[in-house]
Amino acid sequence: MTDLKDKTVKELQSLIPDPEKIIKAADEWGLGPKSKDLIKRALKVESLGAMAFSEFETIPIIDRSGEGAVVYDVDGKSYIDLMAGFSVNNVGYKRKEILEAIVNQYEKLPQYAEMFSEERIKLGEKLCSITPGKYDKKVFYSLTGSEANEIAIKLVRIYTGKPYIITQYGDYHGRTIGTVPFTHSFSTWFQQYPIPSLDIGVARIPFPYGYRCPCGNFDDEEECANECLHYVDYMLSSSYYGLCDSSKGLCNISAFLIEPFQSAAGYYIPPKNWLPSLYKLAKEHGILFVVDEIQAGMGRTGKWWAIQHYPEIEPDITIIGKALGGGLPFQATIGRQEIMDSWGPGAHSSTFAGYFVGVAAALATVNYIEQSGLIEKTRVNGDYFIKLLNELKGKHPMIGDVQGKGFYIGIEFIKDREKTPAAKETTWLTMKLLQMGVMVKKAGYYRNRFAVSPPLTIEKDEIEKVVQILDKALSQTEENFNIKF
Ligand SMILES: Cc1ncc(COP(=O)(O)O)c(C=O)c1O
Repeated sequence: MTDLKDKTVKELQSLIPDPEKIIKAADEWGLGPKSKDLIKRALKVESLGAMAFSEFETIPIIDRSGEGAVVYDVDGKSYIDLMAGFSVNNVGYKRKEILEAIVNQYEKLPQYAEMFSEERIKLGEKLCSITPGKYDKKVFYSLTGSEANEIAIKLVRIYTGKPYIITQYGDYHGRTIGTVPFTHSFSTWFQQYPIPSLDIGVARIPFPYGYRCPCGNFDDEEECANECLHYVDYMLSSSYYGLCDSSKGLCNISAFLIEPFQSAAGYYIPPKNWLPSLYKLAKEHGILFVVDEIQAGMGRTGKWWAIQHYPEIEPDITIIGKALGGGLPFQATIGRQEIMDSWGPGAHSSTFAGYFVGVAAALATVNYIEQSGLIEKTRVNGDYFIKLLNELKGKHPMIGDVQGKGFYIGIEFIKDREKTPAAKETTWLTMKLLQMGVMVKKAGYYRNRFAVSPPLTIEKDEIEKVVQILDKALSQTEENFNIKF
């Protein structure tokens, strides 16, 4: 065990960025003089725990948006944006209607003591009408996705009086003390080594990524999902595990808290039968079904919410955010009225929850998405993008798998036909693309994946340009690392 601890601590220390390497990489990858100067200043003032230090080998200092899906760094270099600021800028940049709504509301009253306003009530009515579930709903606002998840975590335990919540390995629900136990990946859960606070009342199940099935060696992804389901079924049925005992009608589980599609992990989409079967199991055992749509929602997958790809599923609570605020922090936890009314004022509160400027931005964002037909456009242009990426897959040995719905696209990179994850190679490719003017998020269980999430407004010609650049960058990466079919 000492050995394991030493190894883990060493591994964790290796996650702490090396300032020298960051400065050197800025030279190597050709960042401009202003970026380089600001990187040095950032290294003096920002904690090495800041996320910006982990995205790229060095840090482009992005400070403005352009026309279309383009952002610029301080040196004036443009990048086609495949990150949308972590899926926040779904409606693209420079949306006049959102800006006006924000300014008007700021002039009127920015915030007032967590009180209601007509606009806030209007937004609640709207969100209750567009989130899944044909039942009476209520809303609770918050500021960050982690907080919105914590609200759901508190609520399901208070409502059911049951301690356990089940989540999936690989899910991301936040990094606060309350949510870290629900975010299981090396770089988050293990950074709290040896154990994250509040890691009690949490049980985990596998997430069946068909290309690398965690439940056995299957070529067919539906078979993979079935095998993982057998495991969940057993967990829920066996009295030995102490979670549920169906023979006595007992169950200690309040809810499944899951990401329908795993976003921060790397844009993973499960096999078709996974979520409906999981939902069925939940209903059989009287377990609430809570979906975290913070990143996959707001139109990104070509529907308002990812869970709507499964019309038979009616989640009891839906957690939304990121793109909801049109660039401002604004989240909502929306669920069955009886659940949302199972606590009294003060069980949760935060000073800026439901602040009026955020309400105005959210209402303008939702209205824009509805009125502009952006979700339909996402479906059509997303399909086109996925088709072009699949064509690249036929040409490039490094692409192992392409998964996508709308502009929710994961690309898995491999070194060889044995599917060895291409982690180092993916980092190099990410930097090459940055140099060539495309900004994309590296992710993946093995850091060998792209999570492709452009603003939903990205146009066809921009998509074609990205594919051309990616084609070239992949050829260079494959040559550099000698990757062949
Ligand atoms: C699915 C999901 N849930 C929760 C969160 C946490 O949100 P925040 O970073 O605003 O706390 C994120 C953030 O990436 C997310 O992707």
